Amino acid sequence: MEIRKIGVVGAGQMGSGIAQVAAQAGYEVVLRDVEQRFLERGLAGIQRSLGKLLEKGRLTQKQHDAALANLKTTLTLEALEDCDLVVEAIVENEATKAELFRELDTLVQPGAILASNTSSIPITRLAAYTRRPERFIGMHFMNPVPLMELVEVIRGFLTSDETTQAVLETARRMGKTPVEVNDFPGFVSNRVLLPMLNEAIQCVMEGVATPEAIDQVMKLGMNHPMGPLTLADFIGLDTCLSIMEVLHQGLGDDKYRPSPLLRKMVQAGLYGRKSGRGFYRYDEKGNKIG
Ligand code: CAA
Repeated sequence: MEIRKIGVVGAGQMGSGIAQVAAQAGYEVVLRDVEQRFLERGLAGIQRSLGKLLEKGRLTQKQHDAALANLKTTLTLEALEDCDLVVEAIVENEATKAELFRELDTLVQPGAILASNTSSIPITRLAAYTRRPERFIGMHFMNPVPLMELVEVIRGFLTSDETTQAVLETARRMGKTPVEVNDFPGFVSNRVLLPMLNEAIQCVMEGVATPEAIDQVMKLGMNHPMGPLTLADFIGLDTCLSIMEVLHQGLGDDKYRPSPLLRKMVQAGLYGRKSGRGFYRYDEKGNKIG
């Protein structure tokens, strides 16, 4: 199965990053969102990122221009109907994803693959909203997509070998290293990462140390590129909470209980970098203040 044209639904941080790496890899890419301002913001992020890669010599001017030329944006789902692969990267809400996948399923050609970038909703359950569960798969990219090497490829219960092979190959062509995993709550990445972030938040709540001190311990002591509280802010505290809830409910073990402080901060609208405040404060460009 050859993938030539890729649709990406959702022009947020993840969707625009996925569209960017697909366009850099030479695929024809259509990026869809529901409002022009979301598309414009996504495109501006892609231009900034490509500019940075050009500046650093990781892309030539020709590759930079070709990537932009490969990319189109749209407000309609119909523009994705001749895609060979559609990657969904919309809000982490099952009902919203279900509605989108039902619609995509009727729209895109029967042989096309539908993929979700969900960070925690079961792939088997999302696949069941379509009539093509064998051509449904998880493609979980890491943030920031243009810089992170991993794509976690999640097989649903009915995902075919052919679909898996096509998606592994596509991820490699995007310059990524795919790792195949089975469909369990949080997959591997978030099952291992999120409890650590949750524990760091619990340490703040209990007054074990300040956020700065906890981040320093993990950066200097464990060589993590970002401390856990900086990373939680970067991922989004609302996303962290929703992943912890999926782990807690899906695995049924209280060791995955979301920290009450995490819950409280989300209730207060402190989502981290994207809202300007989480464990740290951020300016409108997303840079830490102070
Ligand atoms: N495109 C191009 N360049 C980018 C970029 C992007 N999207 N984002 C950052 N850069 C550039 C920066 O501008 C910076 O350039 P300069 O050196 O010119 O300033 C350069 O990359 C390095 O960035 P930083 O100086 O900020 O420093 P860094 O060395 O810490 O690298 C990082 C940044 C790669 C993000 C690193 O901090 C890191 O690996 N952090 C951990 C990220 C991580 O864990 N991601 C996974 C999150 S979990 C997830 O995504 C899954 C989920 O479901 C929740």
